[in-house]
Amino acid sequence: MDNVLRGKNIIIGISGGIAAYKTPQLVRLLKKSGAFIRVVLTESATRFVSELALATVSEERVYRSLFPPADTTGTDYTRHISLGEWADAFVIAPATANTLARLSAGLCDDMLTALFLTLRPGKPVMIFPSMDGQMFLSPSVQRNIAILSGQGCRLITPESGELASGLIGVGRMPEPESIVSSLEKALQSTVPSSPLCGKSVVVTAGPTREKIDGVRFISNYSSGKMGFAIARAASERGALVTLITGPVYLETPSGVKRLDVETAMEMHDAAKSCFKSCNIFIGAAAVSDYRPATSFEGKMKKEKPEIELTLIKNPDILAEFGMQKAPGQLAVGFALETHAGLDNARNKLSAKNLDLIALNFFDRNTSGFEVDTNILTLIDNEGLTTELPQLPKDDAADKLLDLIEQLYVKTRQ
Ligand code: CTP
Repeated sequence: MDNVLRGKNIIIGISGGIAAYKTPQLVRLLKKSGAFIRVVLTESATRFVSELALATVSEERVYRSLFPPADTTGTDYTRHISLGEWADAFVIAPATANTLARLSAGLCDDMLTALFLTLRPGKPVMIFPSMDGQMFLSPSVQRNIAILSGQGCRLITPESGELASGLIGVGRMPEPESIVSSLEKALQSTVPSSPLCGKSVVVTAGPTREKIDGVRFISNYSSGKMGFAIARAASERGALVTLITGPVYLETPSGVKRLDVETAMEMHDAAKSCFKSCNIFIGAAAVSDYRPATSFEGKMKKEKPEIELTLIKNPDILAEFGMQKAPGQLAVGFALETHAGLDNARNKLSAKNLDLIALNFFDRNTSGFEVDTNILTLIDNEGLTTELPQLPKDDAADKLLDLIEQLYVKTRQ
């Protein structure tokens, strides 16, 4: 890999969490790669890491206050603006709950937050939240993360492991080596701003469970991996993503707002509340088509030699959105097939009034449910068909998002 860091101007913003003690090492690694570093500290960060250590390893003065000493003259009064102009990237590590809140609210009462507002458009901002696991998962922190993601910042999900409190959970700042490699990737993908940036994208994912009784249900093999990969890809492009998911064992992609549901009816209700406001609706869930007409309280006993289950149809969430979408809104679906794939997918595309459908076959080894790869055939509403090879679901999601971006731009012309 070429050394993308060489000659780059990087600002490291440090806020007051225990992980701040790792930042001199981060600065050292970046300096070694040939980057120019300026360090900005919040007031509370100074309690966790020494200004002197950071000044020594960065070989530069460290910035903290917006107000320079009284005897200062000239450009020091507007240092937050000149630093914003200077920076090729801004890394905030660790980002505490407090700093996330202040950044998302647009406050600017210290150097770090003021600088955040003066950065030039298109320069990567990488934010590494780090805090107690419970704090990280709190609705307020998740909301602030979603806001910042929606503005195009790259929020890196903290790692799981032992926390400063001794508890085990999510919240650890990645090691400096891993921060450097994330930054390299961000600088390499000088992706021009995506048309999805700031747009509201709703993704349904995973299976639904339809209750037979208190302990049993009807479901399917969906793992949610495809839907989660789409949510991640959309969020990385700066979209405000709401992920409505059935029961799955997956981590929420960074910056994504997650709504957990169990039944098709619950997924329907959650989705309906987003129909009007979303720009793009992507149905990646394997919604159960039917649910038991009645569900028993408690556990059904095996008293009879034979029982009959009457199933009634669930609402088709995607079709409902497709039928009522307004001009400019985009409906994207999946067709999971075992035979006559193209015909079935085309029928679903028109019956549900979709703009794009992704056909995938159910194959335990390569595509469809559970596996980590997928083989998609994308068909748009003008009949244009794109066959993708077998790809990891993350890559398949990126290809799908590329096409969605093109269609989205087209529908708005
Ligand atoms: N879908 C939905 N609500 C349902 C059923 C399906 O939103 N009740 C969405 C899925 O998320 C997917 C698309 O519709 O994007 C097609 O789903 P699929 O299971 O392939 O087909 P169905 O429409 O259910 O038809 P069939 O089961 O007859 O193939």
